[in-house]
Order: sequence, then structure tokens, then C-alpha cells
Amino acid sequence: MITPGQTIGILGGGQLGRMMALESKAMGYQIAVLEPVAGSPTAQVADIEIVGAYNDEEAVKQLAAVSDVVTFEFENVDANTATILQEAGKLPQGITLLKTTQHRLREKEALEEAGLTVAPYKAITSADELAAAIDVLGTPAVLKTCRGGYDGKGQYVIHSKEESDQAFQELYREGVELVVEGFVSFEKEISVIVTRNLKGELQTFPVAENIHEDNILKRTIVPARISVDAKKRAVQMAEAFAKSIELVGTLAVEMFYTTSGEIYVNELAPRPHNSGHYTMDSCNVSQFGQHVRAICDWPLVKPKLYHPVIMDNILGEHVEIAIKMIPEFTDAFLHLYGKSEARPGRKMGHLNITAPTVEEALERSLQLHIRTHTMEATQ
Ligand SMILES: Nc1ncnc2c1ncn2[C@@H]1O[C@H](COP(=O)(O)OP(=O)(O)O)[C@@H](O)[C@H]1O
Ligand SMILES: [Mg+2]
Repeated sequence: MITPGQTIGILGGGQLGRMMALESKAMGYQIAVLEPVAGSPTAQVADIEIVGAYNDEEAVKQLAAVSDVVTFEFENVDANTATILQEAGKLPQGITLLKTTQHRLREKEALEEAGLTVAPYKAITSADELAAAIDVLGTPAVLKTCRGGYDGKGQYVIHSKEESDQAFQELYREGVELVVEGFVSFEKEISVIVTRNLKGELQTFPVAENIHEDNILKRTIVPARISVDAKKRAVQMAEAFAKSIELVGTLAVEMFYTTSGEIYVNELAPRPHNSGHYTMDSCNVSQFGQHVRAICDWPLVKPKLYHPVIMDNILGEHVEIAIKMIPEFTDAFLHLYGKSEARPGRKMGHLNITAPTVEEALERSLQLHIRTHTMEATQ
């Protein structure tokens, strides 16, 4: 067990690292962080700040040296960095899941191996291959880079056969691997966050319903407005996968729920996830607290949802109004990440709104009108 007083190292200095750090500090741990830019959201609440690139060997060795255990807040961890941490005996989460989730094709193969359903897909290396795949998959279809995509970046939705060449030109570069997927006309997007510790204890958080805007998560609603049976299946899928890969730490499973009740896995994140921020003010344990428990080999808590909640992301363009509305926040919890520059579209914080029912939480969110300009579209 890693005990309070010891040091947890975090690779990455963003908001996920910050929220991991805050939970860790509350439990009595010291925090070290490696991030290329000084004064990051995580460094602001850390004890030891190492400024360096994520793949800077010296910096990574330093992080390993000052830490008793190391975790990460993003999946694109450089292979050499992961190996250094692993060989130092500081990476209980291991390297395998990182490798799998860094690459959409490997991820889909792993999901299928575990018996889960993903959208039909095909690896693409040429414009001709893409055209042939579109003939089979039909349109719309989504062309994605295998590596490095996030918040809809590295993706192209192909609406007609004629667009196929353009999509390929847009995303293809020397050495860039691509995958094309059939479009899942989902009714809802949902996600499940599952945590497993070294002893193999496994817990899942309640299923979240997610609404995206411009490919960025806008809102999470919990409990998800799907049937009890669908929730059960979503949780079973996440748990089955977590067991099959012997997960240690946290895994977020993004899924599509269709009108006919089918569930497809969209993608995985081997870490706490934006769609789990709702846990912070509505559950007996947050996704960050549970994660710290898992990597420090504490027992896990069985998550319990105290009340319905909606989480609204606060992007650069919403910060001003969010701060102005603080006097109204009798049932809303504002989290800001300490980022100095509020660029439009940049994740600056989130607001958890709690209420006796989801409908009341949605109503309350309308009254607070922090994201007014698009609020109606998601009701
Ligand atoms: N095959 C698909 N069918 C339908 N919608 C999709 C598909 N792939 C992606 N999307 C939409 O695009 C969003 C972002 O895609 P995703 O694969 O999750 O990439 P990322 O979150 O890494 O940018 C999804 O949340 C979903 O709304
Ligand atoms: Mg996604």
C-alpha cells in the first residue's frame, strides 16, 4: 500500500491531474507533477513541480525518483516514458492499456476480443481503400486518425461518397494511420466509469448521459435517461472489459445507445474522464478519490449517488457569466481549474447542479443560463 505522507506523481498538469491531486492532498499524500509549462492547473496544488516535456528522459526519471507511485492524466504517454516508470516499479496501472487506448484500431480489436460491440470499421491506408470501405459501410461514415484525436479533432464525417477523397486528403499524412467507422445513429451517448485496484476489486459509477456540442462534452446528466435494463447492460459491458484486461486504476467507456436498445462502445479513456466530474458533488466517492484508492491499493468504495445531478462544462466563453452567477449557486457547485487564459472552447471548469430530479436540475440549469445560447437545443 502507498500510505498517506508518501508521494503520488502525476504525468500531466491539466485539470484531471489537478482534481486527482486535490483528492490525494485531502487523503494526506504529497503530489509531484511533470508538465512542460510552469504553473499548470496541477502544479498550483502540487508539492513538487517538475517542468519538462513528457518524453524528456531526465524529467521522467526525476518524477519516478521523487514519487512512490506514478499515474497519468492522459493516454498519449510516450512509450519510453511509460517504460522508464514501469521499470522503476512506479506504474501499477501498467503499460498495456495505455498502448491499447493510444490507437483506435488496437482499441477496437481489444473491445471485440472481450466480446463487446463496436461500430463496423476498417483500417485505411489509401484513398481507394477508403472509397471501397464507404461502399460497404455507407454514409455517413467517420474517418478518424488512429492516434492523437480528442474533442473531435482528427476526425472527418463523410456525408456522401463524393466526400471520401477530400476526407482522405484532409487527414492523411505520411505515417498517419486511419480508421473509418460506420456512423451509429445513436439516441443517446452514455459512459461508464469503472475502477479496479491491484487486488482485483472492481466498482462502477452510475451510467452517465452525455451531450456534446461541437464535439466537446457539453453536459452530463445522471441518472442517464435510459431504461434500467440498458443501464445494467452498459455497466456489465464496462465491467467485462475491465476484467478482461485486468484493469488497474480508472477506465472510462464511452458508448452509443441506439433507439432499438443496442449499445456500441465508441471509445475508451484509461483515466478519470470529463463525464465523471458529476461524481464530485453527488456521490459518496468521486472518480478521483476512487482512482487514488485504486493506485494506492486501498479498498474501493461502492459508489452511491446521493441525488440527481447535471454537470455543465464551463468553456472560455462561459467563465464570466459563471462567476457572475455565484450568488445563485445554492444547489450548484462551481469548479474552476486555475487556467489563466479563457480562450473560447477551452475547458476552464465545470458546474455540478444537484436537484431532487433530473428535470429539476435541467430547469435549474436553464435559470442559471450559463450556457444559454445553446441550452434549448439539448432539452
Ligand atoms: N461512428 C460514429 N457514429 C456516430 N457518431 C460518432 C461516431 N464516431 C464519433 N462520433 C461522434 O463524435 C464524437 C467524438 O468522437 P470520439 O470517437 O469520441 O472522439 P474524441 O472524443 O476522441 O474526439 C462522439 O462523441 C460522437 O458524438
Ligand atoms: Mg470521445
